[in-house]
Amino acid sequence: MKTARVCEKWDLNFNFELKSEGDRNQHDRSYLHFAAQKPDLVACKSYATEWLLKNIIDESKEYSVMEYMAGVGIQTLLIQKTFKIKNHVVNELDEGCVDHLKNTNFDVTPLVTGEDAKVLLSIDNTADLKFLDFPSSSIIRTTREWKEGFAKMFESEPKLIVWTDTSVTYPMKLHGNRYAKIMGVESINSKEEYVQSYSDWLYRTHRYSIVKAAFRHKNAVYFAAIKGKHETQMKEFKLGDTLDGFYFLDEKRISLAEFM
Ligand SMILES: C[S@@+](CC[C@H](N)C(=O)[O-])C[C@H]1O[C@@H](n2cnc3c(N)ncnc32)[C@H](O)[C@@H]1O
Repeated sequence: MKTARVCEKWDLNFNFELKSEGDRNQHDRSYLHFAAQKPDLVACKSYATEWLLKNIIDESKEYSVMEYMAGVGIQTLLIQKTFKIKNHVVNELDEGCVDHLKNTNFDVTPLVTGEDAKVLLSIDNTADLKFLDFPSSSIIRTTREWKEGFAKMFESEPKLIVWTDTSVTYPMKLHGNRYAKIMGVESINSKEEYVQSYSDWLYRTHRYSIVKAAFRHKNAVYFAAIKGKHETQMKEFKLGDTLDGFYFLDEKRISLAEFM
């Protein structure tokens, strides 16, 4: 068994050997593999998510949670450490991740399911907090192949919706015009303009807006949206500054002392 320390505060157990799956297609690899091979990105994700979730909704209340793409449970852990949980459903397509999620001792034992998120999103769901941690996405995806499910999440009026966008991987000059067309603005020239236009579009379309946007290094941004029109706080999390956000204790890859 391996134990990962998350945000220098909490531990997440992995009850089997995390092994490389180098022979499989990159897009076909399990998130377990990603966690083993790219702990620096997972570390960055951990700190970004911790910040994203804090101080956006009333943390004294109890909430029901639905996670559509739960991977290895980093978000699961951070959600449970931030909010009081009534019940928690974690869904994931990858069988290895499902086994891992079932065998991890979270504070609140989640119901683990192995469905296609697209199918689950088409079913009515009344969870208070909803999480859609896409492996890759942009406004193009959320308004095309994920359009119905994405819209349905907002129609169910949860207290909070969190999702992942990877459009920032590429310079905005590459796809900015396409994003601008969907969002109904003249142009999008920077990632900040992308986030602001996304939030404005979201408010016009679903009456929600993005309260926080956490940039994970140069290749993802995590959005947290709540009802109403709000200013968006944006924060960047860089790889070099966040290496102690996720590491395996037995490997001692990184010790806190190295950062002091
Ligand atoms: C970015 S990872 C999720 C990380 C996870 N939230 C965590 O904190 O560990 C994206 C996950 O989505 C899963 N996935 C991709 N397409 C899916 C689908 N259609 N339904 C359910 N899960 C899916 C992948 O197997 C992958 O584990």
